[in-house]
Amino acid sequence: MKRVTEIAPGIHYVGANDRTKHRFEGLWPLPNGVSYNAYLIEDEKIALVDTIDAAFTERLLGSIREVIGDRPVDYLIINHMEPDHSASIDAVRRRWPGITIVGNTKTLQMVEGFYGIGAGTLKVGDGDTLSLGRRTLSFHLIPMVHWPETMVTHCAREGLLFSGDAFGSFGALDGGVTDVRLDAGRDTSPFRDEMVRYYSNIVGKYGGPVQRAIEKLASLGPLRTVCPTHGPVWTREFPRVLDLYDRMSRYEPLEKGVVIAYASMYGNTEQSAERLARELVARGVKRIAMHNLTSSHVSFVLRDIFKYNALVIGSPTYNMGLFPEVRSLVDDLELRCIPSRVFACFGGFTWAGAAVKKLTEFAGRMGWEPVAPPVEVKQGFTPEKSDGLALLADAIVEAVIA
Ligand code: FEO
Repeated sequence: MKRVTEIAPGIHYVGANDRTKHRFEGLWPLPNGVSYNAYLIEDEKIALVDTIDAAFTERLLGSIREVIGDRPVDYLIINHMEPDHSASIDAVRRRWPGITIVGNTKTLQMVEGFYGIGAGTLKVGDGDTLSLGRRTLSFHLIPMVHWPETMVTHCAREGLLFSGDAFGSFGALDGGVTDVRLDAGRDTSPFRDEMVRYYSNIVGKYGGPVQRAIEKLASLGPLRTVCPTHGPVWTREFPRVLDLYDRMSRYEPLEKGVVIAYASMYGNTEQSAERLARELVARGVKRIAMHNLTSSHVSFVLRDIFKYNALVIGSPTYNMGLFPEVRSLVDDLELRCIPSRVFACFGGFTWAGAAVKKLTEFAGRMGWEPVAPPVEVKQGFTPEKSDGLALLADAIVEAVIA
């Protein structure tokens, strides 16, 4: 059986799965692996769309050879220059020295800056086209989805879009490539959570540019096949994925639910978190995501904050400020400029309280109005000292339902 999947007549998947890397971008855990997607278009001219991570260059070259044998690749189209996609450029050029590297002004600057390649290039601008013979490709810039040079390549004949990081997902492609084969796209599919985590971690800061990209893509006409640089190729499920991206880039919560993100040194603040969760469940809240920030990686916390409409943060006072992991989460949230969430906070301290003051200041910077005054427990947790959490739960439930 061939290792190369033909996703449309003459268009082949030549990417690779990575199930060994621990952290994507050195940051984000990969419990389900990740795929680096590249595509080969076989026409009168041959075009490769993006390359893959340097660890898999030989697999990329082997897959291309399997499709075209000794024919040369004429064009390398670069939609995105982040090295998980561009790191094989030099190897591809050495294998086919006559290849033309196609990119926009910013792309070609990066090709020179990363790989020292300044010749054998073709500069394209927004809306420019390139004929491969039977089909014509067009190029459309979508800056900051996810870098400033990012563009997409459209193939009108097939209604097919090579979308770069847009519509991408974590998760290796276990045996299939398209959503239909992988049962991806549905709410129950593991790819949905991995897509939300990918979006919130990687692209989540750039909601405005994603919205502009979605508007621009609408002008290309119906898209039957969408080929991102990570995760499944979208066919039947693309409308569902587009809707998800649209909502996430508006920072619109996907579901009603509460994230309780907290840290605790000796378990007192954790007991406040546990009590709050019990109070919420007693009031009918069904979806609660508890994250002890010392053990939950922030990528899963951010995923859930993008997913649910309420966030409660709890922190002990530490060095007259926030516990370090809480401070780090707060920084990540400020970077992502999430415009609204139902918000409340709680904390604990031994001799001087500062955490809830810092969390309230954070809410102010975000433009979030806390739904109730914070609850702060001095020294050891007791049910009596934490009764304010019941009032907090009342206010959260009212706001979440509203
Ligand atoms: Fe998968 Fe922004 O690179």
